[in-house]
Amino acid sequence: MPSQNIYILGIESSCDDTAAAVICNGKILSNVVTSQKIHEEYGGVVPELASRAHEQNIVPAVHQALEKAGISKSELHAIAFTRGPGLMGSLLVGTSFAKSLALGLDIPLIDVNHMQAHILAHFIDEEGFEKPEFPFLALTISGGHTQIVKVTDHFDMDVIGETIDDAVGEAFDKSGKILGLGYPAGPVIDKLAKLGDPKAFRFPKPKVNGLNFSFSGLKTAILYFAQREFQKDPNFIKDNLNDICASIQYTIVGILMDKLKIASEQTGIIHIAIGGGVSANSGIREALINAEKTFGWTTYIPKFEFTTDNAAMIAIVGYLKYLKGDFADQKVIASARLKI
Ligand code: KG4
Ligand code: ZN
Repeated sequence: MPSQNIYILGIESSCDDTAAAVICNGKILSNVVTSQKIHEEYGGVVPELASRAHEQNIVPAVHQALEKAGISKSELHAIAFTRGPGLMGSLLVGTSFAKSLALGLDIPLIDVNHMQAHILAHFIDEEGFEKPEFPFLALTISGGHTQIVKVTDHFDMDVIGETIDDAVGEAFDKSGKILGLGYPAGPVIDKLAKLGDPKAFRFPKPKVNGLNFSFSGLKTAILYFAQREFQKDPNFIKDNLNDICASIQYTIVGILMDKLKIASEQTGIIHIAIGGGVSANSGIREALINAEKTFGWTTYIPKFEFTTDNAAMIAIVGYLKYLKGDFADQKVIASARLKI
């Protein structure tokens, strides 16, 4: 731990949230997220609109983050930004902004992998939240990704399982679209599921080898189910919405937990962390807490504001890389398919 206070600005712009955060020695001083409402009317993120909105939001988001942290830009020690993976147009806005700011302030620039950041968000100093013990398994579940990652050290990570088609967040969102729930549907399904019977309807679980996932078959099964039942009774979905949502959530959580159990058995690792937007889901949170008793796991569930896309997680990676002197130069470019 350095003797002086190290201030780092984190910038996140990989998808449809423009975010900026300031961290001081591992503690978050501000965490600003500007969500883009424009995509709701299209039922999904429109890349071109996302990059235009980032362009508008980025300066106010950074201003707010500095203001809330109570520091000026001249006090910053480094600028950390999301290099990828994500939407290229969105990444370019954050990357160009971060490069210019670091150049203008003559301070180091730090490139961050968004998926590593979802995992390393667990290392933010936060009262009441313990940091995972190495090695641990991280289940990163979001609108763009579904991965099981073996984490041996902060920057020693191996993806041991991932989706071969849709991400789990897409499974929630696309199922919700079929049910007419708007976008993003994940939080709505979660809310309605609490009022329904998870075993009311059965949806098939995919048969995928090893630790990989597949969610596209589930989406199709839900579509056929909805069409079939609608033909018999046009009010079926409306009248059974809570039960349908509970059954979908139960199936998805089951798929995730099955693979996580195999991963734990294969690796012998019982420290399990989750990250990404879908880790806000109450079903997966409850299943993990139950697994502590059933399988003797120690589970790590992040603070809500650090689960969905945010810049605090970019700032903590920035801090960890700053301590190692791991900086990027001005030639660094955004990478839409950046791997862990
Ligand atoms: O990590 P995130 O904010 O953005 C991406 O990198 O994708 O994740 C967004 C995803 C969306 O698919 C959204 O529906 C899902 O997270 N999500 C949820 C919940 N809250 C957000 N899914 C299920 N239950 C929730 N409570
Ligand atoms: Zn994300």
